[in-house]
Amino acid sequence: MPDTAQLDPSLIAAKAETIPVINLAPFLHGSPAERIATAHTIGAACRDIGFFTITNHGVPDSLIAETFAQAKRFFALPTAQKAEIAIEKSPCHRGWFSVGGENLDPGKQAKGDLKEGIKIGRDLPVTHPLVAAGTPLHGPNQWPTNLPGWREIMQTYYDTLTALGTQILHAFAISLDLPETYFDEHLTTPMTTLGPLHYPPQTGAITESQLGAGAHTDYGCLTLLAQDSCGGLQVKSKSGQWIEAPPIPNTFVVNIGDMMERFTNGTFTSTQHRVINTSGRERYSLPFFFDPNFSTPIAPGVTAGQHLLDKINASFTYHASKSP
Ligand code: OGA
Ligand code: NI
Repeated sequence: MPDTAQLDPSLIAAKAETIPVINLAPFLHGSPAERIATAHTIGAACRDIGFFTITNHGVPDSLIAETFAQAKRFFALPTAQKAEIAIEKSPCHRGWFSVGGENLDPGKQAKGDLKEGIKIGRDLPVTHPLVAAGTPLHGPNQWPTNLPGWREIMQTYYDTLTALGTQILHAFAISLDLPETYFDEHLTTPMTTLGPLHYPPQTGAITESQLGAGAHTDYGCLTLLAQDSCGGLQVKSKSGQWIEAPPIPNTFVVNIGDMMERFTNGTFTSTQHRVINTSGRERYSLPFFFDPNFSTPIAPGVTAGQHLLDKINASFTYHASKSP
């Protein structure tokens, strides 16, 4: 008999609402009028639920599949090998964290999220001016030494998603009646992070005291998420219902983060979401977080970098304990 999950009633997703699916091809390859029309469709989703799914985004299916395969390959290693690149060893929040290492809803969860993950950022040498100046969250990645080809695939995916994210930020600007490149000055040294995740199946009685990913908003400008076929990503709609963001092969789920909500004075919504893996299978996802330059102001006296540090300190105990 399989061990099934009993979900607290508050954790069951409603079926009444759905998140929009948007074809990105007219924006990437269309006429100026098609670009503007698609940008406004995107903008409408950003003003409403703050989540949408993109199709025809130009990222090869084979690259997405290969990146998932490499992520699985790392998570399948013995713990001691994963610990060679433990995030605690990094001065700039890069590397592997174990199940419970991140807690996206520290108010409700004592043990942290039921997932493990890897943080891959902009791979800067220690001689880079921002690193030499001691800018937090800037520096070299920790790469596994025993997985040939791993680094190359992750770097290719990272670069490809950086380009796609830049396009989507251009669509955001157009939909806000701003020049297309309005946000680009804040994206010269962006704090972009690829964070592959592995969610073990969750069984037994499930409450908000531990989920795969506790309810949270994302921190930056936008997030581009590839998820496998397990499902379990839930999004809080404007009406307050939790609804499913269902897996659709070779698409990305896109959502707004806190910094974009602030940039737009609340016109765009940074929406709460959470993950509950009751599929009975190992769930893998590839979130890519697009955050601006460290020094970008997001509110009077608050930089993007400080906002990110505050959020990391709240969700990673190891990081809070090393910060002054
Ligand atoms: C996140 C997140 C969703 C997922 O890491 O911020 O919301 O499906 N992930 O893994
Ligand atoms: Ni998230």
